[in-house]
Amino acid sequence: MNLVKEFIKSWNENGLQYTASQVKIFIKNFIRNERFVNNNPVLTGIIKEQTLCGPELVQLDLTNNCNNSCIGCWIHSPKIHSKQNDEQKKKFISTEKILETLIQLKKIKTKTILLSGGGEPFMHCDIRKIIKKIKTLGMRIIIITNFNLVTKKDVKFLVKLGVNELLISLWAATSKTYVATHPNQTITSFEKIKKNLEYLMNLIEKRKIPKVRLLNVLTKKNYHELIEMIKFGEKLGVHEIEFTLIDTIKEKTDQFLLNKKEQEDLKKQINQYQTNGKTNVFGLERFKIRIKEKNFSEGNYDQTLVDSIPCYAGYSYTRIMADGRVIPCCKGHLHPLGNINQKTFKDIWFSPKYEEFRLKAKNLKKNNSYFKKIDCYKGCDNFIENLRIHNLIKNLK
Ligand SMILES: C[S@@+](CC[C@H](N)C(=O)[O-])C[C@H]1O[C@@H](n2cnc3c(N)ncnc32)[C@H](O)[C@@H]1O
Ligand code: SF4
Repeated sequence: MNLVKEFIKSWNENGLQYTASQVKIFIKNFIRNERFVNNNPVLTGIIKEQTLCGPELVQLDLTNNCNNSCIGCWIHSPKIHSKQNDEQKKKFISTEKILETLIQLKKIKTKTILLSGGGEPFMHCDIRKIIKKIKTLGMRIIIITNFNLVTKKDVKFLVKLGVNELLISLWAATSKTYVATHPNQTITSFEKIKKNLEYLMNLIEKRKIPKVRLLNVLTKKNYHELIEMIKFGEKLGVHEIEFTLIDTIKEKTDQFLLNKKEQEDLKKQINQYQTNGKTNVFGLERFKIRIKEKNFSEGNYDQTLVDSIPCYAGYSYTRIMADGRVIPCCKGHLHPLGNINQKTFKDIWFSPKYEEFRLKAKNLKKNNSYFKKIDCYKGCDNFIENLRIHNLIKNLK
């Protein structure tokens, strides 16, 4: 109604020709705006503080079960023994529940499914069926795996199906360090993984997918191999290498933290790094900031970075854990917002409780008591994605 009034007013004051040109501009902008909202519901939702669609990326922890025992692992480290932990290891999401949830996610416009854990995704009996379903639904798929159970046949399957990204956790560049960081494994396991990686990279050749990234969690036992880890990846021809710092559990895995001297040595190594142009160190700038943190030796790495930008994880990301708990960011296991075994994912995602997280994460500093259980300053694995979104919004403005 207002628009009609405006139109008549403009016609009377400025004449028909001018008013028609203004209407044309208005319609053009309206269509452009509608198109932007349709193509970017997550960004629009963030700007308007409205939940217009589902999360862009959903991390699905298929199972907590694992074949490995990485020294720093939150569930499988040999340093962690408890009855509660043994119970945790048995959890997995039923195939029926996963397939049902995937269909729901597609309907609310989720674009990417990240299969990880808890445990090792290839320990789930139906992983191949689940990968096929994700691809049939037209979603992108990223898998985080120790690559230890993957056979040549699996490699062919992953390439043929068009899995988009494979993030492979190695924690080593040599078999000696592999065994030191994976006490239940042998030199042969490392050699087998290496052969399968070579096979994978040969199969991919000049195709861009899957993009392959080697993941190395740095601890006291392997930090000295940083440069070799880069060379190892470059020789294989992987696309990216990522380093992260061990996130520890107090009085259990904190013995693997680097001390001040080791921190200095790590800084020297990273300064030696020179790109060969083919293999990229993912998140290098952030890593360089993290290794300079004053509370580094206590395992607090993100004090400087976390409050430098808002957190958008409430709009862009969700993690569904192997016991069905839905958590709003990668480190939110003590802050679950629902359970898919009790409610549908859609009901949890659009609930007032989730909305509270969304708005608080976007607008409050992380020293607010609301974030106590998440402990964002210790380490935020959503930071790189938050930064990407932040830059997109900044450029729009
Ligand atoms: C828990 S694992 C599950 C997926 C798969 N089993 C694997 O190891 O790749 C998920 C990711 O967390 C990493 N990770 C495990 N323990 C960690 C720790 N204490 N600090 C930082 N990252 C860790 C692993 O290397 C892996 O990249
Ligand atoms: S392979 Fe993954 S889940 Fe298994 S022990 Fe290592 S980090 Fe944990």
